[in-house]
Amino acid sequence: MQGLTSLFLLGTFAFQTILGYPGSSRVRREGVILKRAVDNFVATEEPIAFEKLLANIGSSGSEVQGASSGVVVASPSKSNPDYFYTWTRDAALVFKAITERFINKYDASLQTQIQNYIVAQAKLQTVSNPSGSLSDGKGLGEAKYQVDLSAFTDGWGRPQRDGPALRAIALITYSKWLIANGYTSTVNTVVWPVIRNDLNYVAQYWNQTGFDLWEEVNGSSFFTVAAQHRSLVEGSALAKTLGINHDAYDAIAPHILCFQQTFWSPSGGYALANINVNNGRSAKDGNSILASIHNFDPALGCDSATFQPCSDRALSSHKVVVDSFRGIYSINAGIPSGSAVAVGRYSEDVYYNGNPWYLLTLAAAEQLYDALYVWQTTGSITVTSVSLSFFQDLVPSVQAGTYKAGTETYTTIYNAVYLYADGFVNIVSQYAASDGSLDEQYDRNSGTPLSARDLTWSYAAFLTAAARRSGLVPPSWAGADSTATSVPGVCKATSQAGSYSAATALSFPASQTPITTAVPTSTFTRPTVTPTTTTGSCTVATAVAVTFNELKSTSWGQTVKVVGNVAALGNWDTSKAVTLSASQYSSSNPLWTVTVTLPAGQSVEYKYIVVNTDSSITWEADPNRAFTVPRTCATTSSRTDTWR
Ligand code: NOJ
Ligand code: NOJ
Repeated sequence: MQGLTSLFLLGTFAFQTILGYPGSSRVRREGVILKRAVDNFVATEEPIAFEKLLANIGSSGSEVQGASSGVVVASPSKSNPDYFYTWTRDAALVFKAITERFINKYDASLQTQIQNYIVAQAKLQTVSNPSGSLSDGKGLGEAKYQVDLSAFTDGWGRPQRDGPALRAIALITYSKWLIANGYTSTVNTVVWPVIRNDLNYVAQYWNQTGFDLWEEVNGSSFFTVAAQHRSLVEGSALAKTLGINHDAYDAIAPHILCFQQTFWSPSGGYALANINVNNGRSAKDGNSILASIHNFDPALGCDSATFQPCSDRALSSHKVVVDSFRGIYSINAGIPSGSAVAVGRYSEDVYYNGNPWYLLTLAAAEQLYDALYVWQTTGSITVTSVSLSFFQDLVPSVQAGTYKAGTETYTTIYNAVYLYADGFVNIVSQYAASDGSLDEQYDRNSGTPLSARDLTWSYAAFLTAAARRSGLVPPSWAGADSTATSVPGVCKATSQAGSYSAATALSFPASQTPITTAVPTSTFTRPTVTPTTTTGSCTVATAVAVTFNELKSTSWGQTVKVVGNVAALGNWDTSKAVTLSASQYSSSNPLWTVTVTLPAGQSVEYKYIVVNTDSSITWEADPNRAFTVPRTCATTSSRTDTWR
């Protein structure tokens, strides 16, 4: 851990200083530098995130003494806030990530963790709680439990209907691995009975309102509905493989998808986070980004009915949601659209004063890495009228159309999206604690980590974003089901009362190792970012090294400085003005010069000042000088001014 702080610093520091020198910035492109900084961060953070995630899982997790076997504690924090509970949602998302990792690389100790989780969930399903009990399924909608698997009985936003769907999805993912490796009977006896309760809950209650994933809004939540649809599609396929009747799931799933379409706001260009509520919010919410990444199926292309990450709707939602945080957090100030910013839950959030969250900033990156994967494997990028504004933020000249791999436009868009995605990870790298730990939030003004420490979900969000960045994608959930994306002409609130029973087989047979030692490895390689110096495709710069040239005859002892309305120019504070160099000064060409890195697209006002030998300051005459930092492929630019 010793070298970590300096490595982290190197990431951001290198990015800033190398750009500060015009000589080296010409050769080292901003994109390459950002990519390297993110490469370094991801490589360093990956083992830390994995270790810290496991530390929050009972019974052996070092941070969560007292938690039962297989129990994912949301955070070790016991006060301000007290997160020493297990949430069905957090636990399922964490085990979805763990299982994905396990599928990519067999690991016996992870398999034990997965098995412990499943056994713990089988027990939890039987725990009566304020939402109800297992007898009619209602108890499955309870959001959180004590870490010893007993009920939490205080007041809470309940029920939360995403939990059973997410848990089913996590368990189905492991079941498919078991079946592929010859252990179908284990699925039948141990896992299916747990999955079945959850699927029946979805089929019975999906059309009833409940609390959203942020535990605040009682209505219909986009994230919840997306998870419910996926669970029944995947659940039906699993039942079919096991020879179990799946008619009810097949009848209901298309109507959940139908309902999901009603969240789309064509005029707003985004998926509404919550409907059937009247809470005065914009409904722009990271909810929609999470729904998109958690239902990513690389085989579904850019399908818009299921809001695939590269669908025009999901990309437009991404823009609308990300943009909603640009103006409200000070740490995002001055960063223009098309450049990554800190992302939170929703702009009206007041929880802990309303801050950006690591898991949401990472989700913004993950959605884009998912999209890149699909574009590369399908060989084209389609820009529609719905996604045009997303793309134009990155490539201003782009028009609607389909661009085949190998064309200049394809490469330009691809590289720009890649850099945009890396920008979100870079934000996390910038605001993560120096030892690599990720809390729940980081302060909207200072960027300091806050709220629940070591949030397990934050680590899972890092691990899946990092996996996608390296081209590792989850298995397909829609599989061969061609109806998974077809929307019925008329939506119906079809539901079916199901039966529920406690799973009775509470242990796994030993030695369920993979059939073959060959592990699926990704054949996916990302093309390297094309240098802007080539005449063909280029990347739109996110930062530009601007050289200020000022002609001012001075006498010995005087210094010329530049000061302006942005941080890099001292925010009009003359004590923070940037000093120009007189190294090229001559009496016939009294040139003072300096290069400052500024965000592309930023509007800048500035003036030169002369600092006299007695420290007094002489300002240039009004008005302020003004310009906009160019947002083009060029990473350098210059101003040529004469004292006035
Ligand atoms: C705790 C919940 O976990 C959080 O999501 C919510 O914002 C606050 N309570 C306030 O309702
Ligand atoms: C509050 C979040 O809003 C909710 O989504 C989460 O389940 C809990 N904290 C526990 O992490």
